[in-house]
Amino acid sequence: MHRRRTAALTLALIVIATGFAPERIIAPSRAQNTTSYQARLVIHLDQPGAVINRNIYGQFAEHLGRLIYEGLWVGEDSPVPNTRGLRNDVVGALKELRVPVLRWPGGCFADEYHWRDGIGPRDKRPRRPNASWGGVDTNAFGTHEFMDLCEMLGADAYINGNVGSGSPQEMMEWIEYLTSDADSDLANLRRRNGRVKPWRIPYFGVGNETWGCGGNMRPEYYADVYRQYATFIKNHSGNRIQRLASGSHDDNYNWTEVLMSQAAKQMDGLSLHYYTLPTSNWRKKGSATQFGEPEWHATLVRTLRIEEFIQKHSAIMDKYDPQKRVGLMVDEWGTWYDKEPGRDMGALYQQNTLRDAVVAGVNLNIFHKYADRVRISNIAQMVNVLQAMVLTDKEKMVLTPTYYVFRMYRVHQGATLIPTDLSAPDYKLGTAGHTQGVPDTLSTASIPSLSVSASRDVEGRLHLSVVNLDPTRAADLVATVSGGSPRTITGEVLTASAMNAMNTFDHPNTIKPARFQGFKLQDSQLLLNIPAKSVVVLELK
Ligand code: AHR
Repeated sequence: MHRRRTAALTLALIVIATGFAPERIIAPSRAQNTTSYQARLVIHLDQPGAVINRNIYGQFAEHLGRLIYEGLWVGEDSPVPNTRGLRNDVVGALKELRVPVLRWPGGCFADEYHWRDGIGPRDKRPRRPNASWGGVDTNAFGTHEFMDLCEMLGADAYINGNVGSGSPQEMMEWIEYLTSDADSDLANLRRRNGRVKPWRIPYFGVGNETWGCGGNMRPEYYADVYRQYATFIKNHSGNRIQRLASGSHDDNYNWTEVLMSQAAKQMDGLSLHYYTLPTSNWRKKGSATQFGEPEWHATLVRTLRIEEFIQKHSAIMDKYDPQKRVGLMVDEWGTWYDKEPGRDMGALYQQNTLRDAVVAGVNLNIFHKYADRVRISNIAQMVNVLQAMVLTDKEKMVLTPTYYVFRMYRVHQGATLIPTDLSAPDYKLGTAGHTQGVPDTLSTASIPSLSVSASRDVEGRLHLSVVNLDPTRAADLVATVSGGSPRTITGEVLTASAMNAMNTFDHPNTIKPARFQGFKLQDSQLLLNIPAKSVVVLELK
């Protein structure tokens, strides 16, 4: 009786803390907490693979919702502490992630953006409707502000040019304005606008989703358009630009086939977009925060599909580019849920839970595995939009579970992939029943219960990331390192008792990494106890 009352009190406290109705709290029972499964891992330190391009940890910032305005840019006169208009708290948090590359200004917005609107005195810049996402863009954040942000973050710029409503001339002139050191009108205009030295622009995208919002083109048509535009992307004053073509999405393999067969010579990269929707139904995607195990499971089933897409798009690329000169740039990925009640439809603001952290860990592990072809990936998007690192509300900021995964995983940036052999049981959805919107077929799908990736950094440290997809069972993982015998282990774990644990403006520290203590070194074996629904990153020396 007394025990039951304590349990009820605990539940009531959780409800008060999270604001959820009791039936929506997804915490494992005491019995579930104690169950575990066995798994084995061999880490082949003696068989190093490709270098994990640090650009796999890229970000994406579109003029959309409250990402640019409010999330990053508050203006110099704002009460929110800022440096030249960019908010200090957000930039400070993002710096910790060592963002290697930042894609801007879209997305769909890229194909309606005219760069001349965003230069010169801010009070003279035109106000334009944001036709893709609603509202009016003041153009206060333009080329100089974006490049200032990149310099503050230490990130390379990936600018996405306008094909849909622009011209080759407009694109060519933007590049000259950005990168030329000549005594030309456009370079002098940049100087008059406050920037003497040209910037370095390593990546330039030719349109976005040209099969959809970027112009509804057929691949044959876009292949020709791409070749035309790419011709006018010039290298000035020692700058070397990689030209990136607007690529496919999901399993649209014909797009990749046509682009590679007709335009591979003119490109350095071809993009791929894939979003994880729990239901796969764009009209009813599923809630970001109110979900049970069926949606948890379905989300991970959907997430894992990206591996098949990468394999099959890469196989097509291999036919035309066996040397792997052209990179597969996964320049939009992440979770996409239904809009939150009371939020603006076009703002794409969503909360972020432990489920998103697990999605991020799984995706990054997959990108590592295909590091020989995947050279850039940009999670969508950096602040206040979709699977964001950071959420803001006026002067407040919270770091999301996804942010913490990017911080924990930053050790893999630029490290050498170390192959692994994992043997672990599958994770299947229990018989708990279905939730509306989750197709029945998903309930029987089996997925791996663990996802792992290992790398060795330039200083010889071995890094191991382990994601436990199973929300109720811990993993007893026995790992051996072939070609090495680590003596010390340190690490962090990100987990929580609820699947939908999240950080809110009132409770910003509900979920954050803790020191990982579930390991033992025994002879040459490493015994790890990986909690249910967790992301663990270890350093072995
Ligand atoms: O990230 C949001 C949107 O998703 C982008 O603007 C577009 O490229 C994609 O469809």
